[in-house]
Amino acid sequence: MYHLAQSRHVQARLLLRYRPDTQAHSRFGMTDSECDQAVTFCREHTDRLILEGFSFHLSGYCPQARAHTASHLIDRCRHSGLPTCRQVNLGGGFAVSYVSPEHWRTFTRQDSPEHYHGQKTFGGFYPYGALRSGAQALEDVLASAVDGHTSLAKKAQAHHIALIIEPGRALLDQAGLSLFRVQGVKDRRSTDGYAHVTVQGSSFSLSEQWFNSEFLPEPLLLTASARDASPFVACIGGATCLDSDMLTWRKVTFNQPIQPGDLLIYLNTAGYQMDSNESPFHGVPLPQKVAVRLHAQHLHWKLDHLA
Ligand SMILES: Cc1ncc(COP(=O)(O)O)c(C=O)c1O
Repeated sequence: MYHLAQSRHVQARLLLRYRPDTQAHSRFGMTDSECDQAVTFCREHTDRLILEGFSFHLSGYCPQARAHTASHLIDRCRHSGLPTCRQVNLGGGFAVSYVSPEHWRTFTRQDSPEHYHGQKTFGGFYPYGALRSGAQALEDVLASAVDGHTSLAKKAQAHHIALIIEPGRALLDQAGLSLFRVQGVKDRRSTDGYAHVTVQGSSFSLSEQWFNSEFLPEPLLLTASARDASPFVACIGGATCLDSDMLTWRKVTFNQPIQPGDLLIYLNTAGYQMDSNESPFHGVPLPQKVAVRLHAQHLHWKLDHLA
């Protein structure tokens, strides 16, 4: 960074990324002693480097852990010896609530491999029914008591340190839906106890499998024709030749039979689910992306092309 700034005859503004002790196996950030060295280097090269503060990488959704790390970095700013060092970036990690906490508790209590196609097991699930989410989760971080202060917010204020946030998933809460047309239905209810539905699309368009996990909220069924209500249990697969190409391994109970031509709609998918893993390797056109806008009480849509 120093050499880059020097070659361009500019001063670079920096936040150093700290790696908390609890993230020993993370690829991101610097340990305390590495941060010490980096701060010393910044102090010695103020002609080209302006150290403005710290950021950090922390997996998980625990407000106290985030507040604790931020508090540590406020102290680092104070003791950096650099008057420019006045910001701490809390990152993201503000949970999104997809279902009620009660619903989630009930689900996790009864969850079992038999509920999934192939008795599939996972590395874990996103906390779909977070007790506190979005802005509430941020409030919890700011209100957490940290050493010698009643809250992180008060400590930051007392030392004139600005806190920055970088919400990702929470910023997209309730945005986006992913829509798949049903291509085929193998009705194996009499042998397996559930049907195998194949959609035009693939699990690349529903990216939770990236985390060895599953997007658990159930898709809505929009039927192409009228039919009688009756429980219909199915898992949902993609249209590739990979056995592992499953959008929903879980055997979900729909309230009507599914037929080719119907639509399955996964809600709230903008945050990490939609298209981050798509790839044209299968030679099939990638799904269209549609942007919908409310203007003067009318919905307008257009295809959303990447520039
Ligand atoms: C540097 C950085 N900041 C913020 C975020 C957003 O995190 P979240 O979606 O948990 O809010 C990410 C996500 O990967 C990130 O890498």
